[in-house]
Amino acid sequence: LQNMDKRWMGTPIDELNRMPQCAPLLSHLKAGPNHTVTIRTDLLREGELPVPYPSKFKDAWDDVSVKMPCSEKNLFPMDTEDGSGVQSRWELIQTALHGGFKSSLDVRDAILRYNIAHAKKWDFTALNLLCTEYLEQLELELLFETILPAMVDLALSASVLCTMPIPLLKTRIDHSLTLSQEQIACLLANSFFCTFPRRNSRKFEYCNYPEINFYRLFEGSSPRKIEKLKTLLCYFRRVTQTKPKGLVTFKRQTLNSPPNWESSQTQLKRLHITCEGTIEDDGYGMLQVDFANRFVGGGVTGHGLVQEEIRFIINPELIVSRLFTEALEYNECLIITGTEQYSKYSGYAESYKWKATHKDETPRDDWQRRCTEIVAIDALKFRHFLEQFLPEKMARELNKAYCGFFRNNVNSNALSAVATGNWGCGAFGGDTRLKALIQLMAAAEAGRDMAYFTFGDAQLMRDVHAIHSFLTKRQVNVGRLYKLLNQYSSLVCKNCRTTRPDVTLYSFIYEKVSSPTAADTQDYTKDSGMS
Ligand code: AR6
Repeated sequence: LQNMDKRWMGTPIDELNRMPQCAPLLSHLKAGPNHTVTIRTDLLREGELPVPYPSKFKDAWDDVSVKMPCSEKNLFPMDTEDGSGVQSRWELIQTALHGGFKSSLDVRDAILRYNIAHAKKWDFTALNLLCTEYLEQLELELLFETILPAMVDLALSASVLCTMPIPLLKTRIDHSLTLSQEQIACLLANSFFCTFPRRNSRKFEYCNYPEINFYRLFEGSSPRKIEKLKTLLCYFRRVTQTKPKGLVTFKRQTLNSPPNWESSQTQLKRLHITCEGTIEDDGYGMLQVDFANRFVGGGVTGHGLVQEEIRFIINPELIVSRLFTEALEYNECLIITGTEQYSKYSGYAESYKWKATHKDETPRDDWQRRCTEIVAIDALKFRHFLEQFLPEKMARELNKAYCGFFRNNVNSNALSAVATGNWGCGAFGGDTRLKALIQLMAAAEAGRDMAYFTFGDAQLMRDVHAIHSFLTKRQVNVGRLYKLLNQYSSLVCKNCRTTRPDVTLYSFIYEKVSSPTAADTQDYTKDSGMS
């Protein structure tokens, strides 16, 4: 009963590591075979605008780079006088966007001029509604007289700002890409105007990449779209008013040799758990988990509006990862360092509302990146509750989390805590109690403490805190825990005929650890030999 009104439990959050205080020494920023840097690193200075590199646009139209709207190879079928039958699509984009907009219909017409094939299908209802029903006169003036024209200039400066070919972060290849926030703003302005070639249909070479052009954001009349557009326009207003001066790194990381979980002697690390607060507000400086889709950003350019999509619209620089990040495989993650938060919000999903502009005061590191590290890890989607207790599914989730948490060659003392919560347990239907244990095991193996945000669930806070204290006191290591999970699977879940087992995972663990009998191991072998 004494725990009933507690709002947090375990280690006080201020005892956990955060960046930049815990930061390991950062080597000098330098491009290399595994790291593309699109600015002049020798000229990088705090408070100064990064200089794009190289100085002249280098065109690439191949299968290892992003196909840019300003490429010479971006062509458009036309009845031309010279009989060639094609026209530069970039010239058409420039003409269309320079025409000026008086209303949302002009924006639509401009976008459709270079996307003729989609003129019948694309729908701009949400954009129209925003302008006709939701914005006030002064806001409309600001939008049409200031923000949109500045966005056009920003989009059309692609050949000056994004001069280096942007490498695709392809599956099975560990590669980092560092872009300036200004370059990202330029790329996102192009997304807004739907200029990226070969990205309007999943039939082409980008079928294994997320959508990047924003046309689905303009579609339909759901209030969600209105709030998403407000949030993104807040970002565009900010970056066109004052150019952001930092950098952002996108790193694709593969886990090639997973830990041997069964034989791990690692003890669990510290846990702070709370039913209040959020990963983004209270987990500042920690490694913040994005409850991702394998197509990073999930439904951010469409209808989606849960944890991942919200994070991507309040920190819109995350969205650009969709331009170059191939769908994540089971053993891959994407780590994004340096994005800035531009908006405050309230609510969630249906009740989400853009609240106000947000001034991000997070300090920058020596590479001029905000000390905000976000890791996209995609959980499995479960349709049936019992499915997630299959040993191969639990191993998959453990390795996925470990892939996101693990850092090569960094001492545990220099690692920030993991800030996470109900990963995979909303849209993806996972069990919070199992997933909390899996994440604790992965974090321990990676040498990191954890701050867990239960998102209002006080019972979950008490349960996870209780089992964590129990396991720590009894010194149950990761290997033992792994075996207990598999025992639960084979003894309780395997022959279960109802949708949910009658013995919960935690009561099973309490019992096995409290009264281990020789029969346990026999039961286990006997049972797993069945069927
Ligand atoms: N901080 C802490 N906890 C949160 C927060 C927050 N800011 N927001 C939500 N939660 P969900 P999933 C809790 O459903 O199941 C997206 O479309 C809250 O309890 O977003 O992994 C992706 O693109 C919520 O129910 O994650 C994927 O397609 C729970 O976290 C898919 O959803 C899970 O959030 C991933 O679904």
